[in-house]
Amino acid sequence: MRALTILGPGGGEPLAVRDVAAPAPSAGEVLVQVRAAGLNRADLLQSAGHYPAPPDAPADIPGLEFAGEIVRLGAGVREWALGDRVFGVVAGGAQAELLVTHARTLARVPERLGWTEAAAVPEAFVTAYDALVDQAELRPGELVLIHAVASGVGLAAVQLARAMGALPFGTSRSPDKLAAARALGMVDGVALADGLTPLADAVSGWTGGRGVDVVLDLVGGDYLPASLEVLATRGRLMLVGSLAGRSATVDLSTLLRRRLTVRGTVLRARPLEEKILVARHFAAHVVPLLAAGTVHPVVDAVFPLEAAAEAYARLASNRVVGKVVLSMG
Ligand SMILES: NC(=O)c1ccc[n+]([C@@H]2O[C@H](COP(=O)([O-])OP(=O)(O)OC[C@H]3O[C@@H](n4cnc5c(N)ncnc54)[C@H](OP(=O)(O)O)[C@@H]3O)[C@@H](O)[C@H]2O)c1
Repeated sequence: MRALTILGPGGGEPLAVRDVAAPAPSAGEVLVQVRAAGLNRADLLQSAGHYPAPPDAPADIPGLEFAGEIVRLGAGVREWALGDRVFGVVAGGAQAELLVTHARTLARVPERLGWTEAAAVPEAFVTAYDALVDQAELRPGELVLIHAVASGVGLAAVQLARAMGALPFGTSRSPDKLAAARALGMVDGVALADGLTPLADAVSGWTGGRGVDVVLDLVGGDYLPASLEVLATRGRLMLVGSLAGRSATVDLSTLLRRRLTVRGTVLRARPLEEKILVARHFAAHVVPLLAAGTVHPVVDAVFPLEAAAEAYARLASNRVVGKVVLSMG
């Protein structure tokens, strides 16, 4: 099969499309013919040698999400049939023509979604749903602030928050990107092109000084302490990414006085049982919203597998609104 392969450091191109041996499904697994695969920041890190794959994923084939058709069933798989259209999150290996994954971490692709749209769904919507609903326990009527709101995860979070009757607000360093989030249901947003100073006044204006109930922090760094300052009493902050830096100085008295919760999350490192649970929640609560058209993926750009280097550069450019997707042709 053709697979995008990480060549590792040592000069030259970090990625190349190679012919490699196709994987075979073990008991409980399926073989998927990948039609399209979404790109993620983790792929950029892994291809630069900073985020090695866990032991249960191919070491040198990136790709954390896919959409495709089942072409072989491992022993004991009864819930799927050959030809079923499926999508899901994996720990690696999705940017290839064939992929082996556990049968119980899959969900069925709604008919209204084409392959590239479907491949733009799993990582963004699973992460957003798990963080907002299962972990932060966002409730109808609550206010949620989403940093980097026009990112893949951010635009999924805006739509999921709206769908459940919560009120999403957002930030971006790029004022133009706020329009995309507004079009999908963001109540209001603030541009942070020159730093975090405008954040406190913006949130105060939106909430009458009360603060937001939940922050979905996709960027970390100095955004984290600034976010604690704009949370309401008993507010919850979900730390999902660290694009703005891996350390920050926090005023602990803010945490104490307002009885705040700060929680970090990652999908890739979870044990299989937890990944199955997350996939079940996605299939039960998010896929019906996708099928009804209540929420939908935002595809920024689609590249053929051979143009993966361009696709990676596009994601790294920070000009992206929504998801970059590789099509397997
Ligand atoms: N924990 C998990 O399981 C998990 C799962 C998926 C994703 N993530 C993380 O969640 C974050 C969002 O992922 P994504 O795929 O949705 O990202 P994305 O679509 O690539 O968008 C990220 C956006 O963040 C903003 N940004 C980049 N660098 C920044 C900085 N230094 N300071 C402030 N903003 C910055 C940029 O928007 P503006 O320039 O417009 O602000 C950029 O477009 C990433 O950190 C990713 O690694 C974590």
